[in-house]
Amino acid sequence: MKKAKILFLSLLVMVLSLAFASASLAGPIVIKFSHVVAEKTPKGQMAIKFKELVEKRLPGKVEVEVFPNSQLFGDNKVLEAMLLGDVQLAAPSLSKFKKYTKVLQLYDLPFLFKDMDAVGRFQQGPFGQKMLHSLESKGLLGLGYLHNGLKQLSCNSPLRVPADCKNKKFRIMSSDVLAAQFEAVGAMPLKKPFSEVFTLLQTKAIDGQENTWTNIYSKKFYEVQPYITESNHGLLDYMVVTSAQFWKGLPADIRAEVKKCLDEAIAYGNELSAKMAIADKEKIIASKRSKVITLTPEEREQWVKAMKPVWKKFENQIGKEYIDAAIAANK
Ligand code: SIN
Repeated sequence: MKKAKILFLSLLVMVLSLAFASASLAGPIVIKFSHVVAEKTPKGQMAIKFKELVEKRLPGKVEVEVFPNSQLFGDNKVLEAMLLGDVQLAAPSLSKFKKYTKVLQLYDLPFLFKDMDAVGRFQQGPFGQKMLHSLESKGLLGLGYLHNGLKQLSCNSPLRVPADCKNKKFRIMSSDVLAAQFEAVGAMPLKKPFSEVFTLLQTKAIDGQENTWTNIYSKKFYEVQPYITESNHGLLDYMVVTSAQFWKGLPADIRAEVKKCLDEAIAYGNELSAKMAIADKEKIIASKRSKVITLTPEEREQWVKAMKPVWKKFENQIGKEYIDAAIAANK
């Protein structure tokens, strides 16, 4: 009996040491965070902050590798790669989820939100929170929203009224709503990856594009686009996503700490986005490479009138209750 007990205890020690050895051999959990923008942008800075927080609070347990500037994956490939386990975190623009869900098309409706505070109110409300779960049937989890800001129109000729867009080629993200938005003003939209935009503009293969101040500045679009119209006509916002399989496979205590770091990094990035939009616009103006056009209220109203009919076309795909909730967030 005593012999059997000793044998059992020795076996237990052996099993535990083997388990311990294999756990340390396996090394830390690695989170690859892939994105397409420059480091000096709200998303770039948020990713760096996330890495710093995780590696400070979970030393030796979790490592974060950040890949900016489409170094690892472009936005059109990153979600497929995530489902294959090749990347664990990304924050694609909400305009790039069309293959996975239709409800996020809401965020592309032109002139929907009056400002970024309204966007925040909507996202923290029941509809915005529900949308974070809209990818679950496809194996993806939304972990939070990250802001960049409102979009402006840049072009190789001045754009004051919608008719100025006639027959001009504009690069857009992979969104049918954005295609309809440009068609509504007589322009020709082209869906192209972010990594190609600068060259397309420089070589004049396209006439213009829409983006935020931080993307226009950090990717130097203003150096190859002589005019930027401050239209604030649409939103560029992100969903931080991971794969359900990866997330659920994390030990519960690690998952909770990683989520805390992520929430803090997102809050940091969101605060930064407002400041960077102002600073980068000022830098573009100071560069004198591009003329920033301010619309009169009457001119702006013409853009609203031309683009807003797009809402009706997508109402059934998005759900009217979501659109109504977004409108209510403006008050
Ligand atoms: C991004 O901000 O992540 C890219 C936006 C774009 O594709 O224009």
